[in-house]
Amino acid sequence: MKAISSQELATHNTKDDIWVAIHGKVYDLTKFLPNHPGGQSVILKYAGQDATLAFEPIHPPDILSAYLSPRHCMGELDDITGTPPTVKKEARADEQVRIAREHMPRLDEMYNSFDFESVAKTVLKPVAWAYYSSGSDDEVSMRENHNAFHRIWLRPRVLVNVKELDVSTTMLGAPVSMPLYISATALGKLGHPDGELVLTRAAGQQKIIQMIPTLGSCSFDEMVNTALPAQTQWLQLYANSNRSISENLVRHAEKRGLKGLFVTVDAAQMGHREKDMRAKYSMEGPANVDEQLGVNQDEGTSKYVSSFIDPSLNWDDLTWLHGLTKMPIVLKGIQTPEDAVLAARHGCAGIVVSNHGGRQLDFSPSPIELLPGIMDALRVEGLDKDFEVYIDGGIRRGSDIFKAIALGAKGVGIGRPALYAMVTYGDSGVKKLLQLLHDELVMCMRLMGAPTIGHITSRMVDIRNLKDHFVQSPLDYLSHYTYEQMLPRAHHSKL
Ligand SMILES: Cc1cc2nc3c(=O)[nH]c(=O)nc-3n(C[C@H](O)[C@H](O)[C@H](O)COP(=O)(O)O)c2cc1C
Repeated sequence: MKAISSQELATHNTKDDIWVAIHGKVYDLTKFLPNHPGGQSVILKYAGQDATLAFEPIHPPDILSAYLSPRHCMGELDDITGTPPTVKKEARADEQVRIAREHMPRLDEMYNSFDFESVAKTVLKPVAWAYYSSGSDDEVSMRENHNAFHRIWLRPRVLVNVKELDVSTTMLGAPVSMPLYISATALGKLGHPDGELVLTRAAGQQKIIQMIPTLGSCSFDEMVNTALPAQTQWLQLYANSNRSISENLVRHAEKRGLKGLFVTVDAAQMGHREKDMRAKYSMEGPANVDEQLGVNQDEGTSKYVSSFIDPSLNWDDLTWLHGLTKMPIVLKGIQTPEDAVLAARHGCAGIVVSNHGGRQLDFSPSPIELLPGIMDALRVEGLDKDFEVYIDGGIRRGSDIFKAIALGAKGVGIGRPALYAMVTYGDSGVKKLLQLLHDELVMCMRLMGAPTIGHITSRMVDIRNLKDHFVQSPLDYLSHYTYEQMLPRAHHSKL
């Protein structure tokens, strides 16, 4: 293969002649540029440069061969001189992470899901922390998701025999060890070299379900191949504007034995995640591409990876989806009783009441607050039988799971808690997190007088204050530790 110097690479840096190096190979992306699912601007940013560090966490390993033929490969990069400033900043961030990791507390010092979050903040690179932790706009919905649980109080029943406790249940017919699944979160390799495979392994070991993301850093097949033989996995789908890509994925998922198709319906446009945008900017600096190219430098990681999502997706497309697969279809991101009823009428097997962890529309209410109204509407319309309602967003304690079950949920999903456990302590971290949540749920059920999931009823929770948005807990971990204000420029330049 032809050797190409970084000087030669650097000369191919325009929209009409653009070369980029990835993993030591140099690719001519001129023709591919308009077809990049993540948009042109991110490729243009690396025109004539080595893009490996930016490429690696965002793309599954088989993506290059899927999109580019061998003739796009122009040769091998023969030196690493002229390291671009982005790489130097990355190296500095790597060093900071290494030092922070040396000072991490021990795993057995983790007592709850918030502990993992605090440690994650110190050991993640700024871009990864920003991508994982950000919510949209003022992050009000993100904080509210957990706060709302503080407004539900418990009505414990006593003198019930709770010697034997069983928290197992089923989800879409699959047996699970507790009513909790790991929700789809994109870009696992931003925070751990094994990416989503860590979650696959932990979910398998703990007998819970993993929802595989469309936008995983690992490939779909890697996640399925890593699963144990009897392990249940679901697929999360972002419908692609190029419908045939989604069709292939869904058909392939069914062939590989996935047991549910979760279609994300709250992402017609990506939310405005300022923390994510700011971190991207501080790491990569101002425009390094010709202004005339019209490259928008303000985009965060979220925008880079999501521009393929089809905003024209609508209720009529349920016919298309049902025609593609026999897998039960569940709509992820339902936020009103009206849409819950429509989902049931369109033949869906269930819904996830979710505001995407507060990452999409700020001021969309917390799922736990919406749950009672949605369950009522389904009951009134006679649609609550054989229809499973899940919620995700802000679930951080076993008692949060209990409250969701009491209000009618079949189970709950977690997003960030699993990510934070993964990026801090890897497989053992996620295992420990799931054990903590399991043990908290067991304790809650025992003290509530509910020996099985079937014994949990709406009479066990007091929701009179649920709609009172002014009640705030002084122990709002999410707002205290997660919300970040803009820092002076001097701070950014130190990153
Ligand atoms: C970093 C991150 C990436 C996410 N990626 C996706 C995704 O690709 N598809 C999707 O449907 N939801 C995605 N979500 C939303 C989660 O599936 C879930 O709805 C949310 O995280 C639940 O809130 P929680 O983080 O408070 O548990 C993502 C969430 C986070 C935090």
